[in-house]
Amino acid sequence: AQNVKILSTGRYVPDRVLTNYDLEKMVDTSDEWITQRTGIKERRIVDGTTSTTDLAVRAAKNAMDKAGILPDDIDLVIVATVTPEMFFPSTACLVQKELKLKNAFAFDISAACSGFIYAMAIATHFIQNGFCKNALVIGADALSRITNWSDRSTCVLFGDGAGAAILSSSDEQGILGFELGSDGENGLLLYCHAFGLSDVTYSQVKENPNFRKIYMEGNEVYKFAVKIMPYAVEEVLEKVGLSSSDIDVFIPHQANIRIIESAAKRLKIPMEKVFVNLHKYGNTSAASIPIALDEAVEEGRIKKGDKVVLVGFGGGLTWASTVIKW
Ligand code: ACO
Repeated sequence: AQNVKILSTGRYVPDRVLTNYDLEKMVDTSDEWITQRTGIKERRIVDGTTSTTDLAVRAAKNAMDKAGILPDDIDLVIVATVTPEMFFPSTACLVQKELKLKNAFAFDISAACSGFIYAMAIATHFIQNGFCKNALVIGADALSRITNWSDRSTCVLFGDGAGAAILSSSDEQGILGFELGSDGENGLLLYCHAFGLSDVTYSQVKENPNFRKIYMEGNEVYKFAVKIMPYAVEEVLEKVGLSSSDIDVFIPHQANIRIIESAAKRLKIPMEKVFVNLHKYGNTSAASIPIALDEAVEEGRIKKGDKVVLVGFGGGLTWASTVIKW
């Protein structure tokens, strides 16, 4: 099979900052509570006219500029998102139009916070078997659009943004393996309704303004997360024949510092090896891992030859991990 490398990464977050102090004015909460329970200090929020596609396009352009790749050379676009502004066309087709990626086929996938790694896995397999050469993989979400801004137990957690990577066929080893999993049985611990279901009527939506917003049983999702993150890392490391001491940098989904610290502890990984930026952005869903990856590269935390683990969990329920030789 062809080797697959990450040629470049990119990101985009909106300018508007929403701090914990701003949230104190919106719901009964405090900077102290949010900081202690989650580690989040502020998040970025889209304005009224910015769509998930706009976020995705900017992150994608950033990654394409860094790779120096031409639009004609991209032959696959996958966007992982749970906040598309349309059911169809897909966000990926809207990105294709904006960036004039006329030789690509394009589609979205829905795997919430695990979405970027799921999309990477799909692109990697297409490239490995020779079906395409250069894939643009994007994680983009504007969770603020489906956040229930009167629910203090969820609205303090989320933010908006997008991250992207160009995956290409290569002579060198790059992406070494994946672990992907789902637990649909427990999916309704964390959900957001769509329109079009037989049980969703216009009047239901009209009567309840929070109807099409995020619902989460935080404690249950927390228990799932602290169990599944170490599991997903151990599984993928076993598949590729490495142990956690071989890994230089861990990039976990940026949901909650307590979840990350607990997973690191169970895996006996020192926090110095773990990249954290959730204090700045909160949980940006599918964008969280690629934004963190791009920042880690930019800050020089990831160097050529390093082994990097990405790991995520989220709605579905889903989980995903991958090992990359940089
Ligand atoms: N400010 C102040 N108090 C609050 C707030 C808030 N923002 N939110 C909840 N509380 C209160 C609760 O009402 C509760 O009060 P009570 O004891 O009087 O009932 C108390 O704080 C403790 O609440 P818990 O829910 O037990 O707090 P916990 O320590 O579990 O933290 C949290 C809650 C942060 C949501 C945690 O459960 C968590 O991080 N869960 C996982 C969430 C997650 O990572 N989801 C990712 C899914 S990603 C995706 O796919 C979109």
